[in-house]
Amino acid sequence: MEEVSYRPAWIEVDLDAINYNINQLKRHLPTNTEIFAVVKANGYGHGDVEIAKAALEAGASMLAVALLEEAIHLRKSGILAPILVLGWVDPVYAPVAVKHDITLTFFQKSWLEKVKQSSFIGKLSLHLKLDTGMGRLGVTTKTELETLLALCNDPRLQLKGAFTHFSTADEKDLTYYDRQQLNWADFQQTLQAYKSDLTLHMGNSAASMRFPKEMNHAVRFGISMYGLYPSSIIKKEKPIDLLPAMSLHTKLIHVKQVPAGRSISYGATYTTDKPEWIGTIPLGYADGIDRRLTGMDVLIKGRKLPIVGKICMDQCMIKLDQSYAIGTQVTLIGKQFDEEITMDEIAERLETINYEIACMLSDRIPRIYLK
Ligand SMILES: Cc1ncc(COP(=O)(O)O)c(C=O)c1O
Repeated sequence: MEEVSYRPAWIEVDLDAINYNINQLKRHLPTNTEIFAVVKANGYGHGDVEIAKAALEAGASMLAVALLEEAIHLRKSGILAPILVLGWVDPVYAPVAVKHDITLTFFQKSWLEKVKQSSFIGKLSLHLKLDTGMGRLGVTTKTELETLLALCNDPRLQLKGAFTHFSTADEKDLTYYDRQQLNWADFQQTLQAYKSDLTLHMGNSAASMRFPKEMNHAVRFGISMYGLYPSSIIKKEKPIDLLPAMSLHTKLIHVKQVPAGRSISYGATYTTDKPEWIGTIPLGYADGIDRRLTGMDVLIKGRKLPIVGKICMDQCMIKLDQSYAIGTQVTLIGKQFDEEITMDEIAERLETINYEIACMLSDRIPRIYLK
């Protein structure tokens, strides 16, 4: 992509909101609980480097990503803070992690054995993943845990932390969350007997906001650092106040009055029943505006006006309530005057979660950082 943008479409990312959200959580957590900023998937679509810098400035002590390439991207952008890769990395790349001073996650005996056979100069920093009920990655039994801990006795390996991940911390029924906590407590004893200074962490946004006192040494703060609540239940509970960091804007690039009986866009699925003003905006499904968002409102001069007709790859049409000048700002996510369109509304319409909305907006839309 060109660095310069010639198209009037942009995402605004408010870095002060990142700072605000981290500080809200900081005040809510016990003073010695650290915050790891989760900036995987390009900072949930917000921009990994800029978010990482803002989070570190606000007091985050570590960054967490999903992939080794995401970690290296941060390093190559001049970020020196500790970085943890949460996902599985092929053990052949352990030397790459050592070279860039990146902490890897492990949970398999064969993985550790391969790493121990590989040649690298320096020490590999590691966090051990425990599966207390998520069923995705991690050690599931105490025997496995003890085997791995024994294998960690190697001067080239530095076991610094251990963690687990909750699958239902954002739900109303917390029975399963409690079961995961019990499983964790079991593992915790073995871990601390092995090494008393391990950094233990378990909380995502949901758990860290709802159960701040149960989070051990650190929390991994993802979605709510970006100002979004992990579920409607937590949004209602509102354990802390959050400010959404991302908004999406464009401008009207064409405005016309069409007579009654004219159809709009592919498939002619929308037909005017009287003369109507129709506006065109330069955003489409290639930008992440899902085709199922036809009918959703956008904001123009503080008024909610619907997308009509099928969403095209690069454009879509808006049913206007009057003529507007070409160049009038259109907001698809965010506020205009007293009105707001939230990512939660869009997620609900698409029967998904706000996480996916933030991630689906493509790199074709430039991100502009406000501070
Ligand atoms: C292992 C792990 N930790 C932490 C997070 C952050 O979760 P959240 O965005 O709900 O705060 C994620 C997100 O997917 C994750 O996979």
